[in-house]
Amino acid sequence: MYTIKTLNAISPVGLAKLPKNLFEVLVDSDAPDGVLVRSANMLDTEFKPNLLAIARAGAGVNNIPLERCSEQGIVVFNTPGANSNAVAELVTGMLIAGSRNLAAAAQWTAGLKGDPDMAKNVEKGKKQFVGGEIKGKTLGVIGLGAIGAKVANNAIHLGMEVYGYDPYISIEAAWSLSGKVHHCVNLNDMLPLCDFVTIHVPYLPTTKDTINAQTLSLCKDGVRILNYARGELVNNDAILEALDSGKAGAYLTDFPCEAVLGHPGVVCTPHLGASTPEAEDNCAEMAATEISDYLRNGNITHSVNMPEVSQPRAGGKRICIIHKNEPGMISQITGLTTAGKLNIENMVNKSKKDMAYTMLDVTGAVDPQIAQKLAAIPAIIRVRVL
Ligand SMILES: NC(=O)c1ccc[n+]([C@@H]2O[C@H](COP(=O)([O-])OP(=O)(O)OC[C@H]3O[C@@H](n4cnc5c(N)ncnc54)[C@H](O)[C@@H]3O)[C@@H](O)[C@H]2O)c1
Repeated sequence: MYTIKTLNAISPVGLAKLPKNLFEVLVDSDAPDGVLVRSANMLDTEFKPNLLAIARAGAGVNNIPLERCSEQGIVVFNTPGANSNAVAELVTGMLIAGSRNLAAAAQWTAGLKGDPDMAKNVEKGKKQFVGGEIKGKTLGVIGLGAIGAKVANNAIHLGMEVYGYDPYISIEAAWSLSGKVHHCVNLNDMLPLCDFVTIHVPYLPTTKDTINAQTLSLCKDGVRILNYARGELVNNDAILEALDSGKAGAYLTDFPCEAVLGHPGVVCTPHLGASTPEAEDNCAEMAATEISDYLRNGNITHSVNMPEVSQPRAGGKRICIIHKNEPGMISQITGLTTAGKLNIENMVNKSKKDMAYTMLDVTGAVDPQIAQKLAAIPAIIRVRVL
């Protein structure tokens, strides 16, 4: 029986992934085997030696002390992409909302309250908000990860011509992408083709101001820019100047700030992208599945501090070893399993920066002392026999 401590309210959909016969889920536990957390600050939390894993229901992990977790052999998981449908749906909606000027139109219409000539004024006033359909228009997607790929696919279904730019696209994202998305190897070649441009890359020093005066100058006149990734990816001065000159037709963003709020052509939402109950359920479900598979089988999926290692069990016992990424580890480990007359049915060893993980499926009589013997090797941090 494993004990899981929840530090925040975790969706019941997620907790349902932890069967009651195998897991005891508690709000209060002094020495849990695993922790499920959303935003609670764990930076100063002291970890008991038996804590094996922390799973964050969400993408960011800046509330968890990663270095300390690695040193103590605690695997930290997150849930990348679990909120991608929520963001992609909002962006897809905003493509249409932006094209039809819905935000300004709704605001203007609200001002008609109490107008005795409402019906007449509705017909008279609507001209100023008329916007085009998105079917047949071109969309450029910068970043084809979990969110960008879904946005691209949605736009294809809505009849748009879609171009995609992502020099580092993952195999998983590439498989999920519609074959109708045109692949662009150069951002500068893609921008002049697009009526709409949407950005879905992480914010890094190298992606700051991806949309700037130079990239905007390459765009079609009247281009509509959507930014539901991070405010810093679009240079505020450049986008406001482009709106004023007519170079840009609209700037739709989830990141309001003093500089852009209220500027004509800007539509801001209050960081609503991932804020859906479904996204919360998805994150909790993924986090619970990851922690369960690690505690029960030693498999590591979506860890931020350990390598990805996941294998079906090959029978017999499974020995899971977290160790430093140093030369000579495999020979030291297999030296002990050979001395213990164990036959290795399957072995995987992977590293991530300074950390490494070795998982062996072995048959033969496993000496109950093997874990202690392995743990006595200086670079080995944690050993489990499952
Ligand atoms: N509005 C919200 O509430 C909300 C919610 C979730 C995520 N986000 C933001 O959306 C971003 C994307 O999320 P995701 O889940 O799709 O991430 P992801 O990691 O699945 O995808 C990011 C993609 O960007 C690509 N990329 C990186 N640098 C690039 C570059 N210079 N040019 C082109 N492509 C590049 C990567 O190869 C990857 O495919 C996140 O970084 C986050 O900032 C916003």
